[in-house]
Amino acid sequence: MLFLRTFALMERILLIGSGGREHALAKALVASTSCDKLWAAPGNPGIEREAECVQLNVADHGAVAKFCLKNDVSLVVIGPEQPLSEGLADFLREENIDVFGPSKSAAQLEWSKGFSKDFMLKHHIPTAPYRRFTPTERAAALDHVRIHTLPVVIKYDGLAAGKGVVVASTRDEALIAVNDMFDGAFGSDGVVIEGFLIGEEASVFAVCDGRDFVLLAPAQDHKRIGDGDTGKNTGGMGAYAPAPIVTPEILATVRTRIVKPVLDGMREGGSPFIGCLFVGLMIDGDDVNVVEFNARFGDPETQVVMSVLNADVAALFASAARGSIDASTITTVAMGYACNVVLASGGYPDEYAKGLPISGIDEAEADPHVTVFHAGTSMKDNVLVTNGGRVLGVTATADTLANAVRRSYEACAKISFAGKTHRSDIAAKAV
Ligand code: AMP
Ligand code: GLY
Repeated sequence: MLFLRTFALMERILLIGSGGREHALAKALVASTSCDKLWAAPGNPGIEREAECVQLNVADHGAVAKFCLKNDVSLVVIGPEQPLSEGLADFLREENIDVFGPSKSAAQLEWSKGFSKDFMLKHHIPTAPYRRFTPTERAAALDHVRIHTLPVVIKYDGLAAGKGVVVASTRDEALIAVNDMFDGAFGSDGVVIEGFLIGEEASVFAVCDGRDFVLLAPAQDHKRIGDGDTGKNTGGMGAYAPAPIVTPEILATVRTRIVKPVLDGMREGGSPFIGCLFVGLMIDGDDVNVVEFNARFGDPETQVVMSVLNADVAALFASAARGSIDASTITTVAMGYACNVVLASGGYPDEYAKGLPISGIDEAEADPHVTVFHAGTSMKDNVLVTNGGRVLGVTATADTLANAVRRSYEACAKISFAGKTHRSDIAAKAV
C-alpha cells in the first residue's frame, strides 16, 4: 500500500473544450509524467496533435459520465464556463469521477456578477462599489445611473459571452445600456451598476482544491481589437507572462486578501471552489481591486501561463480535484517569459468569413520556442481552414520578454490566411 502511494497515479484524463486555452492545457497535460492517456471532447485540429479527440455531446452529462466509466477516466478537466454553469462537474462527481472544475454553485462567482459582488462585499475583498438591481427594478436602475459619477460600469447579471459589460462615459450611453439589458439583450437576470476603476488590468490564476491553492504566473491580456487598446472589446488579442506589473507585493495581496478569503468563504457557504479561480485585477500603484472572477482559465492567458509553467500539470490538477493540492508537483511557476499574439479573422469581433485555408504553421513552429495554438480552426477536405474569430494563438518563449515578443511576431509573419489580422503591440507596455 505504501509502495503504491509513493508513486504518482497514472492519470487517464478527459479534457472538455475546443479553444486555444484547451490546446494549451492539452499540451501541458500530455507533457506531464503522470499523464497516461488524454482524450479531448470535442477538441480541435491542434488538440488532435496532443490528444485523442472524441465527438461527445458535452451538454449530455450522462453521455460524458458513460464515456468516463467505460474508458476508466480518472480525471476530467473542464475548460470553458458553459459546461460549468450547466452543472457538468456536479453530475460527474455524483458518479464518483474526479473533476478539475467547480460545481455549478461555486461557478456562480463567474456566471452571476451579483453573487460575486455580494460575496466580495461580505468577505471584505477589494472591488469597485456597486448596486445590484433585479429584473423588476428597471426604474430604480435608470434613476441610479442618472446620478452616478461618470464613467459608470453596467454589467448584465448573467453569462453573456464576454459582451455583458458596458463602460459608459456619458449619461445617454448609460441609460441606453441599462434599457438594453432590461430589454433582454442577453436574457433577463437584472444588472449590476458599479464604479469605474482606473489602472492596468492583469489576470492571476489560482489552482484550487477547495481549501488550498497555488498561484500561477500572472499574465496580462489585451482585450481591445486595436493597437493602443482602442476599438471594440474581444475575447483577448494576445497575452504575456509573467507580467511585471504584478509585483511580489501585489501577488501577496492577491494571496491573502483575495484568494484565501474566496476559498474560505465559498467553503463556509457550502460551495467549495475546486478548479481554476481566475482573478481579474485592476492595479493602480499599490491599489489592487478585483474587476471580476471567472471560474476557469482565461484565454489567451492560459497559452502563456502554461508555456512558462514547469510542472506536472496532470498531477497538480488531479491533486486539486481530490482536495489535496500538492505544490511539490511544481518546480517553478515561471521559467522565462512567454508572449502570445492572436491571429484573428478580418472583421472580428464583428462579422467575419470562415473556411479560409491556413498555411505556414510548420514554418512558424520550425523555431523550437514557438507553439501555434489552435483557437478557431477546422479541417475541410484535408485542408486546415479558419473556423472562428480568433483563429490561432502564436506563442513563443524566451529568457526575456523582449525576445519572446520578437519571436512571436517573427512566427506570425510566416503564417497566412485571407484577412489575417493581429495587434502589433502585445506586451509593448511591459517591454
Ligand atoms: P468583466 O466581464 O467584468 O471582466 O468586464 C469586462 C471588461 O470591462 C474588463 O476587463 C474591464 O476592462 C472593464 N471593466 C469591468 N468592470 C470595470 C470597472 N469597475 N472599472 C473599469 N473597467 C471595468
Ligand atoms: N481573456 C479573458 C478571459 O478569458 O475571460
